[in-house]
Amino acid sequence: MRTLCGFVSVFALAAMTSSAQTAADQAAIPHLRKQGTATQMIVDGKPFLMLAGELRNSTTSSLEFMKPVWSKLVALHINTVLAPVQWELMEPREGQFDFTLVDAQIHAAEEHNLRLAFLWFASWKNGAPSYPPIWVKGNLDRFPRALRKDGASTDTLSTFSTANLNADSRAFAALMRHVKEVDSRRRVILIQVENEVGLLGDSRDRSEAANKAFAEPVPRELLDHMTGHKDTLYPEFRQAWEAAGSRTSGTWEQVFGKTAYADEIFMAWNYARYVGGVAAAGKAEYPVPMYVNTWCSMGDRPPGTYPSGGPEPHVADLWKVGAPAIDFRSPDLHATNFSEWADWYHSTRDFPLFIPEAFHATGHYNIFYVMGQHDGIGFSPFAIDELFFTMEPGMMEALESRFSPNSVDDLIFTGPSRTRIELADLPLARSYDIIAQLTPLIVENQGKGKMAGAVAIADEPPQKIPLGNYVLTVSYARSGRDPMPAPKGAPGAPAAPPPAPTRLADRAGVIFIAVGPDEYVAASSGPVNIRFSPNTPGPPNAGIDSIEEGKFVDGRWVPGRRLNGDESDSDKSVRLGGGVIPNGRIQRVKLYRYR
Ligand code: DGJ
Repeated sequence: MRTLCGFVSVFALAAMTSSAQTAADQAAIPHLRKQGTATQMIVDGKPFLMLAGELRNSTTSSLEFMKPVWSKLVALHINTVLAPVQWELMEPREGQFDFTLVDAQIHAAEEHNLRLAFLWFASWKNGAPSYPPIWVKGNLDRFPRALRKDGASTDTLSTFSTANLNADSRAFAALMRHVKEVDSRRRVILIQVENEVGLLGDSRDRSEAANKAFAEPVPRELLDHMTGHKDTLYPEFRQAWEAAGSRTSGTWEQVFGKTAYADEIFMAWNYARYVGGVAAAGKAEYPVPMYVNTWCSMGDRPPGTYPSGGPEPHVADLWKVGAPAIDFRSPDLHATNFSEWADWYHSTRDFPLFIPEAFHATGHYNIFYVMGQHDGIGFSPFAIDELFFTMEPGMMEALESRFSPNSVDDLIFTGPSRTRIELADLPLARSYDIIAQLTPLIVENQGKGKMAGAVAIADEPPQKIPLGNYVLTVSYARSGRDPMPAPKGAPGAPAAPPPAPTRLADRAGVIFIAVGPDEYVAASSGPVNIRFSPNTPGPPNAGIDSIEEGKFVDGRWVPGRRLNGDESDSDKSVRLGGGVIPNGRIQRVKLYRYR
């Protein structure tokens, strides 16, 4: 009996240990978690901010080419690399998988203490079929294509084919199964499923299968969502439905009207079903968070000039219902008026903001906006490796021909002598360092209404930002002094010179965290001036009690100079990040109030 008991307990113990082990493994899988109004990315059990960079499309296709890239990423203070996994290279022959490139990336990420977000380049990239293997691309009968209005066939895989969906899903499931097997140190924390999907060249697919689906009733689950969430539907979507008579049954045209937007709605549903199906197959193997990225539409251009059906805000409801395995949608924002676009894309705030692609010359200030204003979980300039190549002879000129010389200056040179700077001194590296220092404080405050962000632009009016018990008046602090008016009556006095034109460099991102009723931590990418005025009943004036510049080391504040006098504009304002006055980029400010 004792032996039996002993036997039983050994088994029970083994079972308990293995289930505890499984639970520990499960807990360690990266996932999303709500905190207040924010959604956080949890990695190794803790909230994590992705200070990321996306590699160019082809960089990961060669181990040799990638070799020198890893340590440079580390020098930039990057903690997460967005790295393509190309279907054509992973499954060159049907059912035969080659994970050499995948394994090498995981291994290098381990070595350099980096995390990876894999970009699954498969059925579509930017709407185009660049990445399916040739056994898919070359077989039109088995893997059907979309058709345009003019009868022209496209080489774009059709969403209306289970053969297409199954082939992609099988490959993606194999990838996720493999990642689960080999990535015991949880380097892979996030997956982008496909890349900027949607149909180009027409508002909808006109193939026979698509036409048939278009004439069928709108799926019940979508209609139920619409009737059950009328008040929170994206306004443009709701208007289209109401304009067509708010019908609760009918074909796509009957429910949404006979417009290009109705076509786009139909395509969004079908892309969502397809991409959501691929994601679900992968998640069944290994459920790390998965997202889709968006090629954002511009102005009033019709769908088809941008990928029709891609995960834009005005079709977000279709993606929400059609692709439940997708955790969030992300905008690719290369525009210089970045903050407006981020606000537009994230207006509903019902998912975490992650920017998978941004213009690298403006990244050093826009990251402050994403983290401060939107509780962002990550930020990733596109073509991050371009920064390294610019350090090679001749590459800088190539860049200058694509972007303005000023923005190239901002990227890699310092001062009029055009002295090249080291990677760690690049504006992006310095901003990433600051956000890395602030990470414990930022994640503690996400979703609690205690943070704000702004991009201050030279020569633009100050911005007023209410936060906590004060309104913050924020402006860019130009170096040098303003031109003085000519002396009174001076004969032939020259007119004051016109102000210097604003360059990309003349912008600074800033984040504010209210850490007490009269206390803020503020940090910036460049020179910013901040004044405070009370926002709550009581004495009407705000004065500066103290300002410390300093650093965060392992989440602990380490003060440096105490700033006062000229450095605080005689107690009138906080001056972050220099300008004429070389103040630190992280400061801790205490205020008081007086009559
Ligand atoms: C957006 C795409 O998603 C990227 O892969 C890349 O092609 C860029 N455009 C090019 O600027």
